Amino acid sequence: MRRVLPWLGCALGIAGVAAVVALRPSSVGAAGRSEYIGAQRCKTCHADAYAQWRQTPHARAHEVLSPSERRDPRCAGCHSTSVADGLEGVQCESCHGPGRHYWPEFIMRDVELARAIGLQRGGEPATCAACHTADTPSVQPFDHAAALPAVRHGSGDR
Ligand code: HEC
Ligand code: HEC
Ligand code: HEC
Ligand code: HEC
Repeated sequence: MRRVLPWLGCALGIAGVAAVVALRPSSVGAAGRSEYIGAQRCKTCHADAYAQWRQTPHARAHEVLSPSERRDPRCAGCHSTSVADGLEGVQCESCHGPGRHYWPEFIMRDVELARAIGLQRGGEPATCAACHTADTPSVQPFDHAAALPAVRHGSGDR
């Protein structure tokens, strides 16, 4: 029994980490490929949205972290879209959902279909609240309606 206990402790530890990870949408699909494609790919069809996003603190959110904090999952979960995929900062897919399946043009033109496979409008309160929690450093509590205009973008160019 004594030999088993350390393993049990370890297994419980792994289960704990797995439970935390399960709270976030998985970044790796069934094919073992990342579910994220990155802002550069979205930019090819959404140049204006990209240009506007570049002006927001989200595009530089990883830059407030030290090099080791940038790789620390306790920080990177909110300051980057997917460090494992080299996608730093709060990119498009942190608000619009992982794009691996919805990005092809014939799908994007069918917005209902795109939504069914993961595209999010972007401004849902729960989306922002996942990162803008009561614990995040801020002078004032996060006010969703007041914050939204600062991130909205769109001129319709596609
Ligand atoms: C190959 C071109 C292409 C790529 C790449 C692309 N999109 Fe789109 N996207 C479109 C088109 C076309 C529409 C317009 C659908 C329409 O209005 O008929 C659209 C619409 C949208 C919309 C608006 C949906 C709505 O509610 O009307 C969002 C949000 C969006 N795309 C986000 C993204 C994100 C995020 C990425 C990268 C993960 C991305 N797109 C990649 C072509 C693309
Ligand atoms: C739950 C999400 C979340 C986590 C986890 C998180 N942050 Fe943040 N962080 C935020 C948000 C949101 C802001 C912006 C708050 C604002 O300006 O309203 C922020 C802002 C910051 C800022 C800028 C503060 C300022 O005054 O401009 C620093 C530095 C920072 N975070 C460091 C860290 C570090 C280091 C970690 C890991 C130990 C971490 N954060 C983990 C969400 C998070
Ligand atoms: C911080 C969250 C956030 C990020 C990051 C973000 N968006 Fe958005 N996006 C939004 C919100 C909010 C809207 C407006 C939704 C609404 O009006 O209800 C939006 C709307 C859009 C639209 C529709 C615009 C229109 O004309 O109707 C497109 C396309 C889009 N985003 C693409 C992108 C692309 C591409 C990126 C990355 C370069 C990106 N978004 C990054 C939150 C975000
Ligand atoms: C993946 C995590 C994440 C999501 C989702 C997210 N944010 Fe942020 N947001 C951050 C971080 C981190 C910062 C701080 C960036 C910095 O200070 O460099 C920030 C900064 C901001 C700021 C600038 C705050 C300031 O003091 O200048 C606004 C406004 C904001 N976010 C609004 C929103 C809104 C509205 C949404 C939802 C549509 C949203 N955010 C979604 C992580 C997130």
